[in-house]
Amino acid sequence: MRIVNIAVLASGKGSNFEAIVNAQRRGQIRAEIKLLLVDKVKAFARQKAKRLGVREIFLSPKDYPTSLEFDRAAVKILKSEKIDLVVLAGYLRILSPYFIKKYKNRILNIHPALLPSFKGIDSIQRAFEYGCKITGVTVHLVDEKVDHGPIILQEPVWIKKGMSLELLEKKIHHLEHKLYPLAIRLFIQKKLKIKGRNVSTI
Ligand code: GRF
Repeated sequence: MRIVNIAVLASGKGSNFEAIVNAQRRGQIRAEIKLLLVDKVKAFARQKAKRLGVREIFLSPKDYPTSLEFDRAAVKILKSEKIDLVVLAGYLRILSPYFIKKYKNRILNIHPALLPSFKGIDSIQRAFEYGCKITGVTVHLVDEKVDHGPIILQEPVWIKKGMSLELLEKKIHHLEHKLYPLAIRLFIQKKLKIKGRNVSTI
């Protein structure tokens, strides 16, 4: 069986990208991480890719008149690299229906809250300021709606009395770096059974 080819798409720091590469190098994920695709020239993830020796491709949104054109270019690259699984890791673009159709049920995303709560940005801070006692991390399949697709894995983080936002952020990111490789591993091992919104592990 051909080894699964992964592309990671990121716009920011790239800590999840790094965790995924490390998990792959430890043998936790049996796949090839073919490339990192970024849409922000200053994304720190680009430096991480260079340091880790992963091919990095920058696509500038300025070069495309519409986001659909941008996605067409991105998909063209992914297809030419025979990418099987697309992993969004802090990718700040909403994928077009075109992109999603091309990689139906083969796009993963990680969200720093327990979906469907706190969709969108600044989720850790919003859960904290809302006074939640519990928040967490979600890994899900990507569909046409933002932070909406079927949930693969979810784990809680307790917001204990007196906990600072900084500590909560640290705990969430730590959990992300554990949960994302796990979900990718389940995907690669074909252990995910998707039925409507329900994803069970075989
Ligand atoms: C993570 O918190 C992830 O859940 C969210 O964006 C952030 C990306 O962080 N989607 P990083 O760039 O991987 O460090």
